[in-house]
Amino acid sequence: MNLRTIARYGVRSVPGDEQEIVAAFRRGEAVAGPAVAEFEVHFAAYHYMDYAVAASFGRMAFYYILRALDLPAGSEIIFPALTFWVVPEIARRAGLRPVFVDVNPATFNLDPAKIEAAISERTRAIVPTHLYGQPCEMNEIMRIAERYNLTVIEDCAQAVGARYRGRLVGTFGAASFFSFQLLKGINTYGGGMAMTNDAQLAARVRALAEAEPTQTSGDLIKRFLTGYAARIGVSPKGFTFWGFPLQTAASFFGHYDLSKHIWEKIRPLDPFPRFYRQRYSNAQAILGLRALAKLDEFNGRTREHALRYTRGLADCRSIQTPRVPPDVEHVYYQYCIYTSDPERASRRAIRRGVDFETTHVDVCSALPLFTEFAAACPGAAATERALQLPVYARLRPTDVERVLRVVRQVTGDLAPLAEQSAVKQTISGQTVTAGTNGAR
Ligand SMILES: Cc1ncc(COP(=O)(O)O)c(C=O)c1O
Repeated sequence: MNLRTIARYGVRSVPGDEQEIVAAFRRGEAVAGPAVAEFEVHFAAYHYMDYAVAASFGRMAFYYILRALDLPAGSEIIFPALTFWVVPEIARRAGLRPVFVDVNPATFNLDPAKIEAAISERTRAIVPTHLYGQPCEMNEIMRIAERYNLTVIEDCAQAVGARYRGRLVGTFGAASFFSFQLLKGINTYGGGMAMTNDAQLAARVRALAEAEPTQTSGDLIKRFLTGYAARIGVSPKGFTFWGFPLQTAASFFGHYDLSKHIWEKIRPLDPFPRFYRQRYSNAQAILGLRALAKLDEFNGRTREHALRYTRGLADCRSIQTPRVPPDVEHVYYQYCIYTSDPERASRRAIRRGVDFETTHVDVCSALPLFTEFAAACPGAAATERALQLPVYARLRPTDVERVLRVVRQVTGDLAPLAEQSAVKQTISGQTVTAGTNGAR
């Protein structure tokens, strides 16, 4: 039996990060120091943009952008129905009304064809979310936004470094925001960034971000220790000794997916928890600079794994591999396949030492938290048939081969996706090609 297990998540870190953190504490520059401004400048420059402002979270960067835009209270703001629940909740917290628009289950992103029907006299903004690392159809979205005079705020939390027609995500709208949470493309053990070319907007966002209290050294030590523990927990050895036995045991009782207990509880964010209201620290910015320098290399590795999956599964009739339009560079925060029974497939996979995730974000249009804004979104509902394969940069080529074998073993006898399913129908009506734009 193979003792190496493969967790669903992998944390990006640059060798030497820990020493840099310790050195920053020794110099008395862990909480505040020059690296924050340096990271902001480099982050903006990477994107050929003018301004970037660091924040405690991606969600808080979004909150500051909304506050800085000073939209009339009760304005409507369009979100994809499939996204992380926190983002529309932040908009509500900023006094706005989320309006959910369905996604295309083939790309998991906002369906431009459905946007216009959701626009009313009160609509002021639209938030294209480049979900799972795949850029939205920005030309279409920008055309609609211009026609109706809507402000576009791109949610790039899962897609740093991804490109649409050669142009980086986060550079299309009036503003954009990014996340540096543990599992994201740039990991600084939490944090986020707002980005814009508008000097006034940037100044207002900065005033809001810098009005927050600095983190204490104690907060910061706790942040790095818990982040480090989580990183070890999903490493091959760590996962073999804790996550794997627990998940395997759970797979024999109906409650298979234990990860939902790790995630933040879905609830109204009023008031904000104390740890939301903090400034980004210098030690995190030091890691951010190091991670930014490695971003293209890490994304390239992930894209190679994804291409290997797409090629290796092309003849597998029981699943559908991701559909990626040829003009986008997907960075594969998640690699999602569709199967007729994702839960069964993942229960079988964990018993073979490979951990698959079934859903990573929320069908917000159907969440009790947003009953007031409920909308029928069959495309988003169809994504519940998705199964996410581990695709992170630190996987070895032998891990990728093993995942391929396990996917075949656990899905081979499952019924093919029904021809009438929303996924099949959407896909068959499209001219997109699977994986043609894999690794560079
Ligand atoms: C799509 C999406 N948007 C926004 C965020 C918020 O980022 P943060 O956790 O840094 O607030 C996340 C984080 O997981 C996300 O996945």
